[in-house]
Amino acid sequence: MAIQWFPGHMHSTKKAIVERLPDIDVVIELLDARLPGSSSNPLLAELTAGKPALKVLNKQDLADPELTTAWLAHFNALPGTRALALDASITAPARALIAACRALAPLRGGMVKPLRVLICGIPNVGKSTLINTLVGQRATLTGDEPGITKLEQKIVLAPDFYLFDTPGMLWPRITVERSGYHLAASGGIGRNAYDEEEVALALLANVRVRHADRLRARYKLGDLDGLTDDELLAELGRKRGGLMAGGRVNLQKAAEIAINDFRTGAWGRITLESPDEFVQWWAQGQALEAERREKREKRSRGGK
Ligand code: G4P
Repeated sequence: MAIQWFPGHMHSTKKAIVERLPDIDVVIELLDARLPGSSSNPLLAELTAGKPALKVLNKQDLADPELTTAWLAHFNALPGTRALALDASITAPARALIAACRALAPLRGGMVKPLRVLICGIPNVGKSTLINTLVGQRATLTGDEPGITKLEQKIVLAPDFYLFDTPGMLWPRITVERSGYHLAASGGIGRNAYDEEEVALALLANVRVRHADRLRARYKLGDLDGLTDDELLAELGRKRGGLMAGGRVNLQKAAEIAINDFRTGAWGRITLESPDEFVQWWAQGQALEAERREKREKRSRGGK
């Protein structure tokens, strides 16, 4: 899937992170619990290598609890990394994040050495919601628009605890094809940058394997086994008022319904990837990327 977005925000955010990083004790990466691997920024991992990291799996209320447990174990097994899951709008679990940061940097704290924490995440992952919950008032704006968070916001959560906010950031190349679909399905990528039909087909292909029963129940369908993904999307459209004059299915409308139903949790709590699956996809993506690079180098040397 070709995804296009304007890298302007990305460059300025990257620059701001690099400049701030020497004074940062802990980096929080807010992930989408429905796609913890795909919403994890490889560029950020590179920039912040060696810094204590807190992975926060947000929107856990929409994610499959068993897979959330598996992802927490996966992240907690990484060196210098802690992980927790939460629903950004609920105060007590959100405050647990402060304790987790303190545990990651035990030598910081107190007025002389306040703990300095950077918070990062893809657009729409719930960063503004979480910050509002933490400060207990609407200190920052929430909304759909990527980049709405101001660059370099400093939030004082306790006299010795500073949180530095960054705008939602994606990365220049998505090497795992499925990640592109998962990010688009979750709302992490602006809607002008992808084809909704393609995303809905990838989403249905994924979810029918995990939860065919839920799709059947939601759209009052029979056995899905005989249907291709395209036929499944058409059936969904037929059942949900996506018919055009002449009885043809409006696939664009069907795709929008599928994506919206996933986003709002109408299919129940769903996670699109397990840690094992993602590790495999990542390795495949890296291998393809290496092949691509090799071909390009060959071409530039005048070879075939
Ligand atoms: P951002 O700053 O990272 O860009 O994200 P923001 O807080 O604006 O949140 C994006 C959307 O995700 C918002 O919904 C917000 O309510 C929702 N959200 C954030 N955290 C959670 C969570 O833990 N669980 C669930 N279910 N949703 C969450 P919206 O529809 O765009 O806005 P609104 O209708 O809530 O105003």
